[in-house]
Amino acid sequence: MSEQQSTLLRPRERPGANGATAVAQPNIALIKYWGKRDEHLFLPWTSSLSMTLDIFPTTTRVRLDAGAADDEVTFNGAPAGDGERRRITGFLDLVRHRAGLAHRAVVDTRNTVPTGAGLASSAGGFAALAVAAAAAYGLDLDPASLSRLARRGSGSASRSVFGGFAVWNAGTWTAPPAEADLSSYAEPVAVGDLDPALVIAVVDAGPKEVSSRAAMRRTVETSPLFEPWAASSRDDLTGMRAALLRADLDAVGEIAERNFLGMHATMLSARPAVRYLSPASLTVLDSVLQLRRDGTSAYATMDAGPNVKVLCHRADADRVAEAVRTAAAGGTVHIAGPGRGARLLDEGGR
Ligand code: PMV
Repeated sequence: MSEQQSTLLRPRERPGANGATAVAQPNIALIKYWGKRDEHLFLPWTSSLSMTLDIFPTTTRVRLDAGAADDEVTFNGAPAGDGERRRITGFLDLVRHRAGLAHRAVVDTRNTVPTGAGLASSAGGFAALAVAAAAAYGLDLDPASLSRLARRGSGSASRSVFGGFAVWNAGTWTAPPAEADLSSYAEPVAVGDLDPALVIAVVDAGPKEVSSRAAMRRTVETSPLFEPWAASSRDDLTGMRAALLRADLDAVGEIAERNFLGMHATMLSARPAVRYLSPASLTVLDSVLQLRRDGTSAYATMDAGPNVKVLCHRADADRVAEAVRTAAAGGTVHIAGPGRGARLLDEGGR
């Protein structure tokens, strides 16, 4: 990316009273982001790669309020908790700084994905917020700059700026922080003729006990397996790109499965251990193995929670969903395909 492209432009115009509304979907990583090398700038240890989903949209409206003393944040119509409000205000401070505008904002978020359950609600959430806030504050950003901005809310949000498959580049390691910041953003990945689905088994929709932020910090600081995993993840990414390009779903799935199992091994070996896998997760993972034994291409991945996502061919998705539903007795199952990137909505909500 050239310096010209990466420069955040001056406000095009002073924002109008109406603000802006954006929608974004979560993404599920096939090569995981786990661990920051810079906590303040959200610079990751390794590059990661994901598929943006076509379900679970988050819609966020940002309206500037010149007279307000503080930001007002609501989630699904209810005032946000203190922690969430602080996180959003901190993010808006970045936008205000770049825009040279001190106005407070009214932020209204409608989320359709269970929050904090390892279903990437923060990815869609911060991608939508980045796009809506940038527009409301009059910043004219290219997609890479929007991705860098979304990254500062939640690392995985950098990828939801793009639709389909996206890779989030870890960026330069040796550069001074400001330069490293410019080099770490997501971009689309070339994919062959693949018709994938992710079957999502929600075995527990409750919030997790340890946030991904705290868990990854503890893992980086204490797990003897972290650095070996990070090194193997770099190789996994190379293999994943090649497998996607030749539309080889079995290779994509095998690499994704070993990458997530390795990530969970780093958490299990952290001190104290972080364990998101539950008995219900293991039952679903067993059903995925059984599907493979029966000849169906199905591969699991999991994030910072007990829920399991199963990659398969779109044509097999109903059958995979049925098997997983039986295994996840009492849980819910969703089928997702590749979705669009974050985008602004017009006043009619289109
Ligand atoms: O961006 P965060 O803090 O929600 O971290 C997400 C990390 C994982 O979901 C576990 C992996 C990933 O790459 O999305």
